[in-house]
Amino acid sequence: MDDQAGKGLAGPRAVIIGRPIKHARSPLIHGYWLAENQIAGSYDRREVMPGAVAATLRDLRDEGYLGGNVTVPHKEEAFAACDHLTERARIAGAVNTFWFDGPDLCGDNTDGIGFVGHLSETWPDWDRNPAEIRLMGAGGAARGLIAPLLDRNVKTISVTNRSRDRAESLCSDLKTVFPDAKLSVLDWKDRGLGLGTVDLLVNTTSLGMAGQPSLDLDLTPMKATAIVADIVYIPLETPLLAEAGRMRLRRLDGLGMLLHQAVPGFERWFGVRPRVTAELRQEVFADLLGQG
Ligand SMILES: NC(=O)c1ccc[n+]([C@@H]2O[C@H](COP(=O)([O-])OP(=O)(O)OC[C@H]3O[C@@H](n4cnc5c(N)ncnc54)[C@H](OP(=O)(O)O)[C@@H]3O)[C@@H](O)[C@H]2O)c1
Repeated sequence: MDDQAGKGLAGPRAVIIGRPIKHARSPLIHGYWLAENQIAGSYDRREVMPGAVAATLRDLRDEGYLGGNVTVPHKEEAFAACDHLTERARIAGAVNTFWFDGPDLCGDNTDGIGFVGHLSETWPDWDRNPAEIRLMGAGGAARGLIAPLLDRNVKTISVTNRSRDRAESLCSDLKTVFPDAKLSVLDWKDRGLGLGTVDLLVNTTSLGMAGQPSLDLDLTPMKATAIVADIVYIPLETPLLAEAGRMRLRRLDGLGMLLHQAVPGFERWFGVRPRVTAELRQEVFADLLGQG
């Protein structure tokens, strides 16, 4: 169902498209920032059928929207519809943030900078020494994450995915953009090998999400200084993060990424760089608890 709220307001308007769209948290996040910054704009939601994304984006432009976000399952369709893409969106093969430049549709992928933004805010020195990273998964989210990670002080990234070909294609695509990057692929059955030298382990699979099996991985070999991150945010404490907690490893949950990925879009549409605060985090956390 479309959310018409705010359409009558004279002010800047943004929107999120997806299907289903009812439980998207972006309207809560952007609505919070609009109120906090006293901007008389709106951030709406619109349910869009697969196959209708390009036409909907043109309609949104004609209706006066400045831009918006794209969520599951439309990120690839939005990517294909864009006239201009950022390099990280091109690498990701997916667009989660769009805006209009005159008649042109422009697309970005802010998932990775959201993740790295949260990580760097939590531990500013995480990459003071060249970091070794183990990426679990090679799906859409992993594609979004990997380029912003390679922009940092990273020594090597090993990628492991249930379907090995997906990890291989991700690494070979990246090699063309980051020819000096040290990327390797591990078989999924070997996902626990070599964990003793890993500085940052990131779960980008859907394992551990409510209703999904947990990620079966023995963290015992990990260094005491290692960081374990999970981008799943329902539940906020996944079995992987619970295990990392028992081992007293540093932990990063998926909610911070969700909040930080929203920052560039808000700044672009509404002209103010918003803050990710403990109060905002609490609001979204309470909403997640309420709706699951
Ligand atoms: N925190 C945030 O802001 C944020 C942003 C985006 C996504 N996410 C979360 O990230 C997760 C992945 O999203 P996505 O968009 O990347 O999805 P996706 O493109 O469908 O990829 C799913 C990934 O999970 C793996 N996987 C699924 N079931 C598995 C199983 N039973 N055993 C082993 N691996 C399995 C897939 O491996 P195969 O390739 O072998 O299928 C693939 O690597 C979701 O839980 C999503 O909610 C969080």
